[in-house]
Amino acid sequence: MFGKTLFVGAGAMGGAILRGAIKNGLLTKETTYVVVKSDMHATELTEELGVTVTTKIPDLSTVDTIIWALKPQVLPTILQQIKGISAETVCISVAAGITLESLESWVPEAVWYRTMPNTPVAVGAGLTAIAGGSKATVNLTDQVVDLFGAIGEAVVVSEADLDRLSAISGAGPGYAFVIMDALADAGVRIGLPRKVAIKAAAQTLYGAGLMALKTGAHPAVLRDQVTSPGGTTIAGIGAMEKGGLRSAIQDGVVACYERSLELGKK
Ligand SMILES: NC(=O)c1ccc[n+]([C@@H]2O[C@H](COP(=O)([O-])OP(=O)(O)OC[C@H]3O[C@@H](n4cnc5c(N)ncnc54)[C@H](OP(=O)(O)O)[C@@H]3O)[C@@H](O)[C@H]2O)c1
Repeated sequence: MFGKTLFVGAGAMGGAILRGAIKNGLLTKETTYVVVKSDMHATELTEELGVTVTTKIPDLSTVDTIIWALKPQVLPTILQQIKGISAETVCISVAAGITLESLESWVPEAVWYRTMPNTPVAVGAGLTAIAGGSKATVNLTDQVVDLFGAIGEAVVVSEADLDRLSAISGAGPGYAFVIMDALADAGVRIGLPRKVAIKAAAQTLYGAGLMALKTGAHPAVLRDQVTSPGGTTIAGIGAMEKGGLRSAIQDGVVACYERSLELGKK
């Protein structure tokens, strides 16, 4: 699929996908083209990656794959203006909240994919949800999975589940940082230096996530393994649950999901 590939936007998200794909050999610098807004960023990216970077969208008729990594406020205007996309072109949007229905109505010629990555893609540990449009094929979907697999894990889901995952994995790094910060604060409260407390909190969340992924065990099973009868961990968990930990997390996810549906309607 990839062939001649164009990134429109190479900021936090587009830049992470671009670097991951080049580093993993999925894309070559000779066949990868990038469009950004500022001349300064264009020069920096050319120097860093050796790809061709411009500030104007080139002739699209010879491009095989386009990754649209623009802000959701910018993407609709640009998609409604572009011309010359051929029927075989694969278009991948990373824009939050823009539906496949809208994407296909603006550029009906293309084969559309809508994706929802999260910020850990920047360190190769992201989770990207992928939903294919009406022209998606198994073969093309596998290749989109490979592209996002270069920067973490990728899962193919329905578009409705992609919206749901936005409230778990999309916003999830935000939740995790709040939990990490709270753990570090607690460490400081009982006398640890802040730097040590932050490192301990981050490494513990990372290690627990890795254990769940590697063992495939249910989180409750892993929790049971660290809670001995009458012990310290169950005393800690009991106090946290009395404070509403579980219901606060559930309510937070529901609030995030409802807000994204509300914004999607606008
Ligand atoms: N960051 C995240 O955590 C995250 C997570 C999931 C999804 N997303 C989605 O990813 C998309 C991009 O977000 P981001 O965080 O990567 O934004 P960003 O860092 O602001 O990057 C936006 C990119 O678009 C370029 N750009 C802006 N206007 C342009 C124009 N008219 N023509 C060509 N290029 C233009 C910018 O160029 P310059 O570099 O020259 O400024 C920049 O490279 C959004 O739709 C967002 O919903 C982001």
